[in-house]
Amino acid sequence: MVSARRRTRSLTDCLPDGELTAQHSTLMSPLVWDMAHIACQEEIWLVREAGGRRALRPELDDLYDAFRHPRAERPSLPLLPPAEARRYLAQVRAQALDVLADPAHADGSPLFLFGMIAQHEQQHDETMLATHQLRRGPAVLDAPAPRRAPAGAHRLPREVLVPGGQYAMGTDGASEPWALDNERPAHPVHVRSFWLDTTPVTNAAYQDFIADGGYDDPRWWHPEGWLHRQRTGIAAPGYWHRAGDTWLRRRFGRTEVVPPEEPVLHVSWYEADAYARWAGRRLPTEAEWEKAARHDPATSRTRRYPWGDEPPRPEHANLGQRHLQPAPAGAYPQGAAPCGARQLIGDVWEWTSSEFTGYPGFVAFPYREYSEVFFGAGYKVLRGGSFGTGEVACRGTFRNWDLPVRRQIFAGFRTCRDAEPH
Ligand code: AVJ
Ligand code: FE
Repeated sequence: MVSARRRTRSLTDCLPDGELTAQHSTLMSPLVWDMAHIACQEEIWLVREAGGRRALRPELDDLYDAFRHPRAERPSLPLLPPAEARRYLAQVRAQALDVLADPAHADGSPLFLFGMIAQHEQQHDETMLATHQLRRGPAVLDAPAPRRAPAGAHRLPREVLVPGGQYAMGTDGASEPWALDNERPAHPVHVRSFWLDTTPVTNAAYQDFIADGGYDDPRWWHPEGWLHRQRTGIAAPGYWHRAGDTWLRRRFGRTEVVPPEEPVLHVSWYEADAYARWAGRRLPTEAEWEKAARHDPATSRTRRYPWGDEPPRPEHANLGQRHLQPAPAGAYPQGAAPCGARQLIGDVWEWTSSEFTGYPGFVAFPYREYSEVFFGAGYKVLRGGSFGTGEVACRGTFRNWDLPVRRQIFAGFRTCRDAEPH
């Protein structure tokens, strides 16, 4: 909770009030809405629900309810100005820490609520980072570049074999006490052997798709993807533009040459799907992705992360906004999965072919609006987290979702192909 709050502050203290109250894109809230929404959720779940205390600001519940007010209308609401939003954040945090220190709450479900709220703030930190990327104007964020790929990364095999068989997908919470409702329960899933890209698809590989006319050939596109491509005229990933024969990109207010070895970023599900078909491959299902990331054939155990059960450290994965871009493909050898795949956690969210639905035996908690209202509504699942995702909101079971047209999130993908006949 402390590191999430530090991040919330550094994403908002760097901008003048006018930029916090402005809406930088109709896809996003003004940053000042995220600030008070973070505090409001913390008040509802930690101060009232876990602490049994009375509301500090009951009149704010409606204003910061994400379901009552769609993002596009949030700038016209009577939102708390930045200074008041900051004060509200601090007041709620003081009360929440007080609840946590209360011995009556030393164990039991309130601890889940603390985990949930820590994750909630980290999720909004990633959303606010996406708002920064959409924002026009001079750069205000800065971070060192991630480590280069190790020597020999370019000699990694293009794909790795993920052996078929049954494994336990999802979790009952014993090893993942902070798993959210949609990650539960654990259930057996059979996956056939498949070949998976060792790393996410790179900018260089994606440029080959563009150069080969991939955006102009309906053979590669899902019918709805083709309509979307025609309607919007998209012809390259988000934030890319061409200067002569060089691709440039805008990244947090700076323009730079697109680095060929980095995983491609800001592509929609439709673009990822079209690339995969062009390459003679397909997107993995989320069951395949999770098997590759968690299953260890040597022990038959399903683990928490590709590298084992220990929480992520900087040498495992590019998470937590330490860097503001993905690391080159082939980086993080210490984070490799048993199958040999790299960068499954961190760097870029990875689109899967799967629709977002509940696992067999799903039970919504603590509120239906976290996951259940999105089931069966055309959302696609993304896995693995990005450089913008907090460590606490990222694990082998974590499920993210978005609509197939969206590309403001930090999403890329990898592809696969069957190794057994169907
Ligand atoms: C899991 C990223 C899709 O931003 O809509 C934040 C996370 N839920 N507040 C979203 C979330 C409620 C959620 N995603
Ligand atoms: Fe939220």
